[in-house]
Amino acid sequence: MRTQVGIVGAGPAGLMLSHLLHLAGIESVIIEDRSRAYCEARVRAGLMENWVAQMLIDTGVGARLQREAMVHDGIFFSFRGEAHKLDFAELIGKHVFIYDQKEVVTDLIAKRLADGGQVLFEVTDSSVHDFASGTPKIRFKHDGKTQQIDCDFIAGCDGFHGVCRPSLPADSWAGYDRVYPYGWLGILSESPPPEKELIYACHERGFALFSMRGPQLSRLYLQVEPDEDPDRWPDERIWDELTTRLGGVRPLQRGKIVQKGVTPMRSFVAEPMRHGRLFLAGDAAHIVPPTGAKGMNLAMADVRVLSRAIERFYRRGESDELESYSTTALRRVWKGQRFSYWMTSMLHRPSGEYAAFDMKRQLAELDYVTSSRAAAVSLAENYAGLPIE
Ligand code: PHB
Repeated sequence: MRTQVGIVGAGPAGLMLSHLLHLAGIESVIIEDRSRAYCEARVRAGLMENWVAQMLIDTGVGARLQREAMVHDGIFFSFRGEAHKLDFAELIGKHVFIYDQKEVVTDLIAKRLADGGQVLFEVTDSSVHDFASGTPKIRFKHDGKTQQIDCDFIAGCDGFHGVCRPSLPADSWAGYDRVYPYGWLGILSESPPPEKELIYACHERGFALFSMRGPQLSRLYLQVEPDEDPDRWPDERIWDELTTRLGGVRPLQRGKIVQKGVTPMRSFVAEPMRHGRLFLAGDAAHIVPPTGAKGMNLAMADVRVLSRAIERFYRRGESDELESYSTTALRRVWKGQRFSYWMTSMLHRPSGEYAAFDMKRQLAELDYVTSSRAAAVSLAENYAGLPIE
């Protein structure tokens, strides 16, 4: 098989890249080791920055988003038994959108296939080769047969545990990471959320987040130990803890819990995001703790830069933007890391030697962002999405 861009991974990054390349008249093939049904059902964070929603709409994959996404004006912080709203619409004139990543994936897969794109699901044994030279190759097994894609470029959009990043020569990149001493227990519940918009709750028993997927479907999270066993959390205990941490600022209706899982929290960045003709994008290159809801948004920013660079290469024969892809993408990635780290450390119950000091500092931080317009604007512009370059 021969194509221009071989893409590993059918998550938001790989699919959006393939879609943007198609619009620029550039061919790509996506390989994915999971099934289509799995990709379309995997519940992930659901918050979309303003410009990402606009990009989906502008490129013809936003019809369902426009019908079904929830448009939020802002978020609430709950602390010391009070809820404080940060009104992004009023502060910076922007909204954010709640639309689960799996819906974005579903829409993009449908569009790629309708446009004649190739997305090969359930491949095994994928590996990437010869990307330091001019003729990169992707090998894999599909339908029991060994196959090879010869391409001009490889896009590694295969997530944190994918094959692309570990295939880079060990001395060609550095990883920067930070593991946080907590995890999130996340549930999906058939019950109305306590507020129209998200509530980030800082409580002495730990952080809680009250998000949603619909008027009757709540997505709720509790700060727990990073290696917490979800079986230690029967439904009653989850609801009691959520109610306590919400601090009485809103009534919380209980419902049937239809999904439960623990996610560890980690920051990670690989630099540079490129080696020869292999380009990393999204979680393959960087992950953020979920507190700032930046994961998918950063992935979308990467592929926007990458697709333009590739387009420029084919249109004009110029590789300057390919050369600067990593530097350009990393500028935004590190701002996303900074924001996610800051939100995470402002809201989670601290532990260790300085816990008592940190708890006081967190409340001061929350007081500040909910009372100073300058601080609130800063939070709002980061949360709703910094301007794209
Ligand atoms: C979610 O709805 O899953 C969600 C929203 C905001 C976050 C994290 C997760 O910061």
